[in-house]
Amino acid sequence: MASVSQAAEQPNSITLNANMTPIQTKLVLLGEAAVGKTSVVYRFVQDDFQENREPTIGAAFLTQRCRLEDRLIKFEIWDTAGQERFHSLAPMYYRNAQASAVVYDITKAASFEKAKNWVKELQRQANPHIVIALVGNKLDLVSDKLDLNAEEDSDKIVESDNTDEEAAPAAQREVACSEAQQYADEMGLLFFETSAKTGENVLETFTEIAKHIPLEAKPTSNQTTPSAGNARTELVDLQRRANASGREGCSC
Ligand code: GTP
Ligand code: MG
Repeated sequence: MASVSQAAEQPNSITLNANMTPIQTKLVLLGEAAVGKTSVVYRFVQDDFQENREPTIGAAFLTQRCRLEDRLIKFEIWDTAGQERFHSLAPMYYRNAQASAVVYDITKAASFEKAKNWVKELQRQANPHIVIALVGNKLDLVSDKLDLNAEEDSDKIVESDNTDEEAAPAAQREVACSEAQQYADEMGLLFFETSAKTGENVLETFTEIAKHIPLEAKPTSNQTTPSAGNARTELVDLQRRANASGREGCSC
């Protein structure tokens, strides 16, 4: 599987052909508060993770250039705040977006319901050709990867908890991978389960989004040009080349 490689700004890391115009892709992250939107995007652009991250206020803007085979894609990423008081700002960020990652926390069923509401809102009000990825985050918290809704025998969970005293206590999965996959299929969404903490499937998610962006994607409207306060310039030191690791988007 082809994967995006992140194009660092350092001159030696990539030779940007002057004729190679980046396909500018406005991508918006939506989802309930604390599901890990900021963490997922930081894993993508900085390959980093912070425990106890502060909630986003309003929205944050980041960019990331990626190469996908012979295409250069410049993601312009709006990481929105999930707190309900910011909901009314969302249309400003998803307007004209070519892609959206709708994030939920696989250990919080309510966040999946919220994600469904975001999908409905996007399908009603956003660009009709928007590429939507449904992203179930915090996969590391259910490290045994048991799909509880599909697995009747909950004794196995007790067993797995007792095998490794060093391991962080496993949280209970509240959203079955199979349920989310089925919903995504019905709604025509891409679907991944990720961990911003370990990085699992994060690059794969953006790779799949990149693959689905039409070649003729146009620069985005300047209506949502970031204010200087939260704008990031192109990110440096992103030498990491994403290699297809053979992982699939969902383990169900
Ligand atoms: P808002 O900005 O309020 O909308 O929240 P958010 O969706 O951006 O969530 P954020 O990235 O701030 O993460 C919330 C908390 O969850 C933080 O304490 C993160 O460290 C933690 N977190 C995020 N992603 C993961 C993950 O994949 N695994 C684990 N274990 N914790 C995570
Ligand atoms: Mg945030």
